[in-house]
Amino acid sequence: MPKRIYLFDTTLRDGEQTPGVSLNVHEKLQIAKQLEQLGVDVIEAGFPIASNGDFEAVMEIARNVREVTVAALARATKKDIDRAWEALKYAVKPRLHTFIATSDLHMEYKLKMAPEEVIQSAAEMVAYAKTLCPEVEFSPEDASRTSPQFLFRVLEAVIDAGADVVNIADTVGYMAPGEFGKLIRDIRENVPNIHKAILSVHCHNDLGMAVANSLAAVENGAEQVECTINGLGERAGNAALEEIVMALRTRHDVYNTNTGIHTEKLYRTSKMVSYLTGVHVQPNKAIIGANAFAHESGIHQHGMLSHRQTYEIMTPESVGLKQNHIVLGKHSGRHAFEERLREMGYSSLTANEVTNIFAKFKDLADKKKFVMDDDIETLVSQETSKVSEAYTLEHFQITSGSGMLATSTVRIRHKDRVIEEAACGDGPVDATFKAIDRAVNMRITLEDYYIKAATGGRDALGQVTTKISVGSMVFVGHGASTDIIEASARAYVNAVNNMVYRLDMNVDQTQKAALLAGSCNFFGEGVGLNWGLE
Ligand code: KIV
Ligand code: ZN
Repeated sequence: MPKRIYLFDTTLRDGEQTPGVSLNVHEKLQIAKQLEQLGVDVIEAGFPIASNGDFEAVMEIARNVREVTVAALARATKKDIDRAWEALKYAVKPRLHTFIATSDLHMEYKLKMAPEEVIQSAAEMVAYAKTLCPEVEFSPEDASRTSPQFLFRVLEAVIDAGADVVNIADTVGYMAPGEFGKLIRDIRENVPNIHKAILSVHCHNDLGMAVANSLAAVENGAEQVECTINGLGERAGNAALEEIVMALRTRHDVYNTNTGIHTEKLYRTSKMVSYLTGVHVQPNKAIIGANAFAHESGIHQHGMLSHRQTYEIMTPESVGLKQNHIVLGKHSGRHAFEERLREMGYSSLTANEVTNIFAKFKDLADKKKFVMDDDIETLVSQETSKVSEAYTLEHFQITSGSGMLATSTVRIRHKDRVIEEAACGDGPVDATFKAIDRAVNMRITLEDYYIKAATGGRDALGQVTTKISVGSMVFVGHGASTDIIEASARAYVNAVNNMVYRLDMNVDQTQKAALLAGSCNFFGEGVGLNWGLE
């Protein structure tokens, strides 16, 4: 009888700790809904004590995600647990996840606590969490570098205190698969009450072994695996959900397990996470990389034509990668367009969203002969991740050429004001970004700029991702157009709008003032944004 493995997705918590990633509440909710459709068992929605934004996101996800367990992280202190519960209490299936470090190194240098104090605190806080929430998970942080005898004692104590799940964290990605598998087996054999809890693992990828370690743990008795989409996470990231799931499925003969994942939704989920986080997936990434199912060499192509299994151990369709249909053109009507959206799996769009996407499709079809699935995905992503626009780019004009300074003029609407600004720059993109800086009157740092074609062909839609920072916060923006300067300008303005949205939603006035000190009113008087701080 195959064993059921529970997938605990921490894209929105550990994944959001990826350097340079920062999602707003709206984006987190979008990802959470996609994870629910994907079939994960648990969504770790955030770390509520960490920021107001995390608190709001956990609350919003707890209120809106009804089918799946929603978890929130808390250190093993009452203050953290209370804050986490405050956000989580709206969930149909809530889980409080509390943790404390158990390795000598962490206890001595970070916590400055004696081992006995750590055990006591862990058990007390699990018992306290249990008075609030029906389901409690406990993680010994840095468990893999914890003395096994001490780890067994901690686990026994927290299970006695009521922990429903115990999660063995390889926090610094130090373990080798054989060693980690043995640790899991030893826990099964040496913790007398382990059968009363679900045994989980949480592996980081510092040595590139997070997935191998997670699978070794499954072979040795782990029942829950914690992971992230695209392997996002602190430093080198966490174990990649898509790799674990497809390994368990493709090598059912080895692992004899099932998961609740609808694998054909993996590709879309990966794309959504990459789009919203602005973290690109390397082309040779297993399962969801652009080359994962591409066969380049003649020998391989010949083999594939004779029998697909010669070089293919899983089908592209099984992860949701479909052949790019040439779908529609400028004569296609709304009915055909809606039908195509349905075939592509976009069944939960509102009528208003479909109307807006259809209007953009018509514009695009005027410029481009064939509109492909990838183009439509771009239009849908733009529409569904849209926040209310504080600034709208109405017009831009550039002059550029070899051996001359590029200049750009932009016209931007902000509430009932129209702002026109011009700037020179090192090329048309730089000039346009500088003109936008002047129009919004902010000191903005461009952290990252990425451009790619959505499809092949000269008339392809250019997709631009920008990452900007203001103070210590980073914001991502997207823009798409057949004109790459326009796509760049739209991506930049979108990042500014995301910033405005984020600051208005999540940050209190004092934090906002601190963040913007030195960033606002940079270009003088009369233009730009009124933060209500003057
Ligand atoms: O890596 C880690 O130790 C963690 C814990 C909070 C589970 O993320
Ligand atoms: Zn972690």
